[in-house]
Amino acid sequence: MAVLTLALETSCDETSAAVVADGRIILSNIISSQVPLHQKYGGVVPEIASRKHIETVMPVVHEALTAAGATPGDINVVGVTYGPGLVGALLVGVAAAKALAFALDIPLVGVNHLEGHIFANFLAHPDLEPPFVALIVSGGHTSLVYVRDYNDFVLLGQTRDDAAGEAFDKVARVMGLPYPGGPHIDRLAAQGDPSAIAFPRALTGENYEFSFSGLKSAVLNYLNSAKQRGFAVNAADVAASFQAAVVEVLVEKTLRAAESCRTGVIVLAGGVAANSRLQAELGRRTAAAGLRLFFPPPVLCTDNAAMIACRAYYKHIAGRYADLHLNAVPALKL
Ligand code: KG4
Ligand code: ZN
Repeated sequence: MAVLTLALETSCDETSAAVVADGRIILSNIISSQVPLHQKYGGVVPEIASRKHIETVMPVVHEALTAAGATPGDINVVGVTYGPGLVGALLVGVAAAKALAFALDIPLVGVNHLEGHIFANFLAHPDLEPPFVALIVSGGHTSLVYVRDYNDFVLLGQTRDDAAGEAFDKVARVMGLPYPGGPHIDRLAAQGDPSAIAFPRALTGENYEFSFSGLKSAVLNYLNSAKQRGFAVNAADVAASFQAAVVEVLVEKTLRAAESCRTGVIVLAGGVAANSRLQAELGRRTAAAGLRLFFPPPVLCTDNAAMIACRAYYKHIAGRYADLHLNAVPALKL
């Protein structure tokens, strides 16, 4: 009999529930996006997100069970994201998962959202196994992680200020593109020249830390001085040059991390893993170096509960359970 994991994800602006068999086979992955709700504010409004999660969480659970052809009694374990994320948003998922685990009398697993992003790759690639180096690039995080085993992670470094996705979203916003801006910059950049404008690359030394706030300011200054001095801005060139600056730093540090961890496998995770230049540049460089590169399909790059179910399954077989005191931890570390 397969082990069925039901998982919930409510850390930001997606309400998601999924049923996954034996940790790797997605039976359902329902994602209710709040993007249109937050779009007019240019970013996620935490209070609005929490309220929407409350309305949506149980309907999404029902939908996930139905789509999986499962009844509540078929579920063996419940997983839930308990951090990092927006506290009010996380609390909705945590409360719902605790109630389900209690009512169904099955074990509860608390999942770190960032570990979930990494584990999206196990769903997409049945042959993938640790050890590998993972680059997590999302709206909230930019981290390099050495995944030694399914339950053994070493944080190599992370951003000192903005996350990569946050930089994409902020630059998109000043360019008048809709939220979330990452995919829009990606599309616009395809028509531009990545070497048109020399935007800065930060912290390029021998370290695994990132910084994107200076780059964001450089783009802002460029656009402002164009306005003041009256020279024409080629939006596609700005997008392409900005994207190239982000991607170059990500690629260099990830390759260096793989080398120092002596692993031939690199894994991308998080929303920005869907970026076409990041995939192409890292693909080119890993192929040249004889390394293997894995990344999830777009739907598993951004927030979803299937990746949380996958992570929950591996904690379940290691016996790493939470109890009904599980609480949301907004700044949870890896
Ligand atoms: O992982 P995710 O869904 O949420 C967080 O946990 O933060 O990532 C969302 C982020 C947003 O900043 C969005 O703009 C970015 O991922 N993103 C992209 C692309 N697709 C999504 N950034 C650059 N290029 C893309 N194609
Ligand atoms: Zn995420």
